[in-house]
Formats: sequence, C-alpha cells, structure tokens
Amino acid sequence: MGKSSKDKRDAYYRLAKEQNWRARSAFKLIQLDEQFDLFSYKEPEKCSRVVDLCAAPGSWSQVLSRVLIKGESFGRRAWMEKMDALVNEVNLASQEAPEASIETEVGSLNLKAQKPVLQPRTNVKIVAIDLQPMAPLDGIIQLQADITHPSTVGRMLAALNPEKSETEYELVDLVISDGAPDVTGLHDLDIHIQSQLLYSALTLAIRVLRPGGKFVAKIFRGRDVDLIFAQFKLLFRRVHIAKPRSSRASSIEAFVVCEDYTPIPGWTPDLGRPVNIPDTAKTSIEDDLENIPEQKRIVRTDGVVELSLPRKEATELRQNNRWIAPFLACGDLDAFDADATYRLPPGHVSLEPVQPPTAPPYKAAIERKRAEGGMYGKTKNKGQISNTT
Ligand SMILES: C[S@@+](CC[C@H](N)C(=O)[O-])C[C@H]1O[C@@H](n2cnc3c(N)ncnc32)[C@H](O)[C@@H]1O
Repeated sequence: MGKSSKDKRDAYYRLAKEQNWRARSAFKLIQLDEQFDLFSYKEPEKCSRVVDLCAAPGSWSQVLSRVLIKGESFGRRAWMEKMDALVNEVNLASQEAPEASIETEVGSLNLKAQKPVLQPRTNVKIVAIDLQPMAPLDGIIQLQADITHPSTVGRMLAALNPEKSETEYELVDLVISDGAPDVTGLHDLDIHIQSQLLYSALTLAIRVLRPGGKFVAKIFRGRDVDLIFAQFKLLFRRVHIAKPRSSRASSIEAFVVCEDYTPIPGWTPDLGRPVNIPDTAKTSIEDDLENIPEQKRIVRTDGVVELSLPRKEATELRQNNRWIAPFLACGDLDAFDADATYRLPPGHVSLEPVQPPTAPPYKAAIERKRAEGGMYGKTKNKGQISNTT
C-alpha cells in the first residue's frame, strides 16, 4: 500500500503525522479523556502522577507530557476553551456582562465566559515502561522492562520515588496500559496473551494507585470477558468498557476504564499469582445489585433510553463470578471514522511517520531478509537460502 493510499484509508494515521504524534493511538487516549476526564485538574480527582505501561513508541506519553507538563489541551476540552476565549473577546469588545450568544452553523450558542483552566501542573511525575527502547521525551522517565516480570514492580517504584524506600512511597493518580502482544491472528491465543498483559498491568497498577485513582487498559473483547470485568469491579467502584472512534470497529480491541480504586483491606497483589482476590470481599458489585431498578427500560429526561439487566439475571451472573460492564462509544460523532476512507485535501503531501520504532521485534527478521536479498525469493544467493529455510 502506497503512503498516500494509507493516508486516505486511515484518517488517524494521517492526522497523527500532521499533529506530530508518534502513533495514531494518541487519539484513542484523547477521546477516552473526553469521555472520562482522565486528566482532571480539579481536586479530589486531580491527575499529576501517572504510569504509562507498554508505552513505546510513546504517543500516550506525548499526550501526558503535553497535557500535564505543558498545560495544553486537545479534543473537546480544547474546543470548549477556544469557545470561552471567543466569548471573552466578544465581551471585551462589547464591554458587556460575561455571557454572550454566538451564531454557529447549528444555531445560536449561549456561552458563559471562563478563563482557560488547563495550566502546567505541579508535582508532575510520569513513568513510561516498555519492553522496547523508546526515543526520549521531555519530562518522561523511561524504563525498559517486561511488565509481566516480578522485578518490574521494584524498578517502577524506584523510578517513581527515587529518594524513598519501597515501603514508603508516593502513590499515583492514574495508570494507563496500551499493551498488546504481537497478534498471531488466532483469536483465542491472542486474547489469552492479551489477558496476561492486562492482569500484569492491573497488578502493577494496584501497587501504586492511590485510593480513588483510575486505571485504563486495552482489552480484547473475547467470549469470557465478563469474568475479567467482575475482577476489575472488585477493586474499582466504576468500570466501563469504552471504544474510541479512532479504534477500528472491525478490531476486537476496546479499553476498560476503571475509576475510584478501592483497596481490599489486608490483600496484597502478587505478580506470581495474578489477581487471586478473596471471594469473601464485599464489593461494589453487591452495592450495584441492590440498586438495580426493577424496570428494564428507563427513558431519561435527556431522551436517552437506558436498558438494564433484570436483578435476577444480574445476581445469577454474579454467582458465576461474571459481571457485564456498561459499554460506551467515545469521541465526538463528527470525529473521523477509523474504518472509513476519506478524500485527501487538495495539495496533500504525505508525511513520514514522526518516530519510526527504535528497535521493533521484527527488526532482526527484516535485516535477515535484506541480507538474503529481499522478499519472494528474489535473492542474491538463492541456493544458500533454500538450504537454510
Ligand atoms: C500498541 S503498542 C503501544 C503504543 C503506545 N501506547 C503509544 O501510544 O505509542 C503496544 C506496546 O506493548 C509493548 N509490550 C508488549 N508486551 C509487553 C510486556 N510484556 N512488557 C512491556 N511492554 C510490552 C510492546 O513493546 C508495544 O510497544
């Protein structure tokens, strides 16, 4: 596929290059933030200390660095700030009260002027971990490590709190993980490996998350995913499954967004025995069950129809250690569709990727193929290859 052709078929790939992101995944994190306010600036949700797991080539770390360290904003938040600035300008010109009406394509908008709120934050600490090396990024502490290896816990704690001991350290507000194995195409195997990464990410997260903290991780939606959701729901009061518009509908990928971490008293996670949460733990699932309305269909005042599982069925699921997480599609409806092909703007020049992988796992294979003369057997020394392959 030519470069321009990929630009047409994947609007987010093109936008990532134009907006200087190392990978199109940046938009997934931005759209998740639009929905869940992951980078909240308000107490008690304020976010300034973050661990980014499986971070290479680093587009999520770029988002963290630009939002938390530089105080920039993106997506819906940026649009609202732009509107506020516009209102301020209108008011300044008319010397009126701090409210204004602006005519837009979709009618008039009554906006209340506010000062832009995002500022560079204090006490920011961002640690990025990946198996692969990653090109440096301003303000990001990088660690090359395997998140499934028990030694990574100590290394992560040391990176977060260099001057403190392993038992006395500052906790973090948010842990994000975009970990994915090299997919084989065998769905069951890919989902199994992905869930091992997910459990490792969760185990690392609960070693460092503050009570009330958030955890976001990539998940492959497989047959028994409700078993995994039930485990998350033991530790977090709110759990959603989210699909950003920049994630292709055709892919089994989604993101589990867990909010309000509630530690289980007396229980310490262990990478060697993934999750292993005591059955007796009273959790928010039980609280939710008590609150399930008898009606299955509720029409909210804003017109949204909420459908819920009847209490009897939800209780049966719980008895089988299963729980169904509410699903949310996120990202504005007018955002680009990741599965659509778009016409390129006139005069479009296809850009090179911002940061090619530093040492991808397939590097050795490519070098070997090159040395052998290339693909499809067009080799310099064919005889030698047929002997070795
Ligand atoms: C989809 S990429 C992450 C993209 C990244 N979030 C970004 O925005 O640039 C998945 C990453 O998971 C990493 N990974 C896979 N298994 C891992 C493991 N066991 N430990 C650490 N990183 C791992 C891979 O090296 C790869 O860089």
